[in-house]
Amino acid sequence: MGIRFGGDYNPEQWPEEVWAEDLELMKAARVTMVTAGIFSWAKVEPRPGQWDFDWFDRVMDGLAGAGIAVCLATMTASPPPWLTRAHPEILPEGPDGQRRWPGGRQHYCPSSPVYRAHAVRLVERLAARYAGHPALALWHIGNEYGCHTRQCFCDVSAEDFRRWLRARYGSVEALNAAWSTAFWSQGYGDFAEVLPPRTAPTFPNPAQQLDYLRFGDEALRACYLAEKAVLDRLTPGVPVTTNLMPQHKPVDAFAWSAHMDVMALDFYQDPHVPDDHLRAGYAFDLMRAARSGQPWLLLEQAPGAVNWRPRNGPKPPGAMRLWSWQAVAQGADAVLFFQWRQSLGGAEKFHSAMLPHGGTDTRIFREVTALGRELASVPGIEGTRSRAGVALLSDWPSWWALELDSKPSTALDHSRIALDHYRPLFEAGVACDVVPPQRDLSGYRLVLVPNLYLLTARDAARLAAYVRAGGRLVVSFFSGIVDEHDRVHPGGCPAPLRELLGLWVEEFWPLAAGRSVAVGDGVYTGRADLWSEALVLEGAEALARFTDGDLAGRPALTRHRYGRGEVWYLATRPEPALLRALLDDVREAAGVAPVLPGLPAGVQATVREGAGGRYLFLLNHGAAPVEVALPGPMRDVLARGAEGGDRAPAGRRITLAARGVAVLTAA
Ligand code: GLA
Repeated sequence: MGIRFGGDYNPEQWPEEVWAEDLELMKAARVTMVTAGIFSWAKVEPRPGQWDFDWFDRVMDGLAGAGIAVCLATMTASPPPWLTRAHPEILPEGPDGQRRWPGGRQHYCPSSPVYRAHAVRLVERLAARYAGHPALALWHIGNEYGCHTRQCFCDVSAEDFRRWLRARYGSVEALNAAWSTAFWSQGYGDFAEVLPPRTAPTFPNPAQQLDYLRFGDEALRACYLAEKAVLDRLTPGVPVTTNLMPQHKPVDAFAWSAHMDVMALDFYQDPHVPDDHLRAGYAFDLMRAARSGQPWLLLEQAPGAVNWRPRNGPKPPGAMRLWSWQAVAQGADAVLFFQWRQSLGGAEKFHSAMLPHGGTDTRIFREVTALGRELASVPGIEGTRSRAGVALLSDWPSWWALELDSKPSTALDHSRIALDHYRPLFEAGVACDVVPPQRDLSGYRLVLVPNLYLLTARDAARLAAYVRAGGRLVVSFFSGIVDEHDRVHPGGCPAPLRELLGLWVEEFWPLAAGRSVAVGDGVYTGRADLWSEALVLEGAEALARFTDGDLAGRPALTRHRYGRGEVWYLATRPEPALLRALLDDVREAAGVAPVLPGLPAGVQATVREGAGGRYLFLLNHGAAPVEVALPGPMRDVLARGAEGGDRAPAGRRITLAARGVAVLTAA
């Protein structure tokens, strides 16, 4: 089957005469899979209960005839105008009570029973009709849940929230305790008094906001699950997925992963951001690790520019190929795009497509075709896996709680802090899994905790057990502060980690914007910014201290031997070189080697292995050619006639062109 290659296919935007050409050109581009039907609801059900699937039958049959598999969308992402006219109550509302009107897409309240019932009705039709169809390979539910409507605050949602709270807390007393409602006279006498955290004169109750984020995620998931139940019943055996978005706050990818047969991601690297491949790397490592290393699908990316950033940079020659291979190098078994044929009208007419307005005699179509051919030429990668010695912990509830208002600093950004810690590993060529704190960590030699502001006593105990058994742990500032209700753990912050870290934090000392402090006094010297803490050591040793600023003389970086392991604590955000130096040493202490030692700057290295072979991927994200030393004589499987292929390795060295890619196997 190989690595799947293709894109979103929206034939309803085109007269049928065009479809035959689509199929011919797809074959020429070696397309093997398309995602069809995402926005087809209004066309398959033009009037309530009046179905017209005939045209879609022809699409499915045509694709099957061309040997192209279909990732079939459930068509529920954009309700048709007749539905919102008949049921305006399905329209979502913002926290300010403002209704979000139709005219775009995703204009539905996730809690709406009316929306869900109509969606399920449609999916029943669809699944019954295409069960057993030769083109049907995969189901794609909805589209990018929470992309536009992240949360709804309408009365229907309010009622659903109360139901959710009753199930979670059982009694209004328990709710009052969890939400600390004794503060600011918020005590509830009845669940009926509870509302979503709508726009208030000042900070709404943080525990209420946190629960609303949990609830919002579950409401979206309930839509997904309602559709999935139909698919599992009517087409058992056909895998089901949905396209997640990277670092997407409303949707807890780890919670969703349990209900996805295969993980799938949309990722749009920004050509105007020189190191956006790092953000991609993090998202890809999370996708792969979410289902314990199972290959995942890159369901959407752009062949060139997008249309939704303020300035939309085209992908320069080679970038689309490089970034596609990056996904494969990090565990993807599919490389799909948005979209096949560039629209002439609508909001996305300036979004690039595999087949641009200019047709086949275009750079983009040539690059697309070359990539399709190249992917088809390398069977064997599909299904192979990567092994990581390092885990980086990430947690949606902690992210949600961290970025609520009324904190020591609003400058703490979960994604930014996570990437700061991810960068040194990525740059050193160290394989890393991004996993939730509940994951079994015993197989990892090193675990990084960039920031876990919210940490349950139970998860803290698991971290301690990991270190006690010999694990190496790095914890950064403002971690282990609150419980699942955003209540400070009593006993001196970070109480549940205090014994493990061998220290406590007397005061948080966030730094002013643009301000940095010197850190030094030993091996680790440099500057740090954003945040600092007044630590009191209780067994940990200081590896570096603040050497200027208000906390001069106090520890900035500590190490504590605990059980058979060791834990490092960072009380500030070191500059990248300093963090890299620390993590290089910690890695060495933990016995974690990079995939390839001495990687030149800008080169990414990963390994996938399995029944199909062992592949070393080398990707040059830099703009100049670079030479890389290999562990032994190797063969570049892409160099055999693929257009734009890199020079075959000469002995134990390979030259990667600017944006070059090599996929190497033992010679
Ligand atoms: C998302 C959506 C697509 C399309 C693209 C444009 O990924 O899922 O429907 O809007 O963005 O980049």
